[in-house]
Amino acid sequence: MSDMKCMMLLVFGGLLALPNVGVAEDVEHGRKLFQQLCSHCHKAGYDEKFGPGLGGISERRDEKWLHGFLQDPESTIQTDEYAKTLRESNAYNLTMPKFREMQDEQMRADVIAFLKTLN
Ligand code: HEC
Repeated sequence: MSDMKCMMLLVFGGLLALPNVGVAEDVEHGRKLFQQLCSHCHKAGYDEKFGPGLGGISERRDEKWLHGFLQDPESTIQTDEYAKTLRESNAYNLTMPKFREMQDEQMRADVIAFLKTLN
């Protein structure tokens, strides 16, 4: 094989591989954010801590709801019956905080990508 052909294969192969790497990094970034911001209050499994366990959360709530809730928990709790019930049934007197980081759409998407891996 000529050097030129070889180079082109390498470049093309690299481009094909990129999207997969990107997705994997998002979940990893989401996992880190979860550990930093969320794990004080939430377990990645089904048991409660200071908030509900987040195991299986992507089956309970869709992506749109998760984006809205993470961006602004208080207004979701005021306008959404499910979130209201969640607040009323929460026995710990702690509330879901509004995070500066969760105002960033990419960071929310990364955390949600991680939440989707919790079954
Ligand atoms: C100070 C404790 C605390 C921290 C930190 C926290 N949460 Fe929460 N979270 C709660 C509480 C309490 C609730 C229940 C709703 C309420 O009463 O505010 C909740 C509810 C939720 C729900 C809905 C759960 C369900 O079963 O429907 C999701 C999703 C969630 N939190 C995700 C997160 C994510 C992601 C982070 C990190 C970015 C985070 N939380 C950080 C306390 C916390």
